[in-house]
Amino acid sequence: MLSQYGKWRAAKASSAIRLRFVAALVEKVSLFAGLSKKDYHRIAVLLRELELPAGTRLATAGEPGGDFFAIVEGEAAVRTRRGRTAVLKAGDFFGEMSLIDGAPRSATVEATTPMRLLVLGQRDFWRVLDATPSIVRKVMQTLCGRLREAEAS
Ligand code: CMP
Repeated sequence: MLSQYGKWRAAKASSAIRLRFVAALVEKVSLFAGLSKKDYHRIAVLLRELELPAGTRLATAGEPGGDFFAIVEGEAAVRTRRGRTAVLKAGDFFGEMSLIDGAPRSATVEATTPMRLLVLGQRDFWRVLDATPSIVRKVMQTLCGRLREAEAS
């Protein structure tokens, strides 16, 4: 599902040099923190690195999901259908909800600054979750936080 961002650079890690570069980016994202070097590399081969300008829309509420995004640099604005807003920054992730439940995107997400992202397609997202319980735990904790905030608003 990377075609919609196709005009921006999105290279899947393949060469050894690129793999090391992506693995270094993976280490910067707290979702992936604390993994072994072997796990960093296992995840790095599945990730695409994406650089895009401010103003790029990455998800649209009500549309089908497709990719999971972890922010390495930059910021994005989240706007839910009920008008709730949130700012996501380096280390945060988004796009997990529609991949988990298969429902449409719950919110619109737009880059408010130039961004560097790590992207996983649905099948690779599940591969990473299946292989890495610590990441499952962090995704669940973030989902609980988002639910609590939504309930509180
Ligand atoms: P998804 O529904 O796939 O696409 C939109 C994404 O926005 C969603 O996954 C979450 O990652 C993110 N999102 C939705 N609601 C909130 C919220 N209240 N706070 C932060 N992020 C959110």
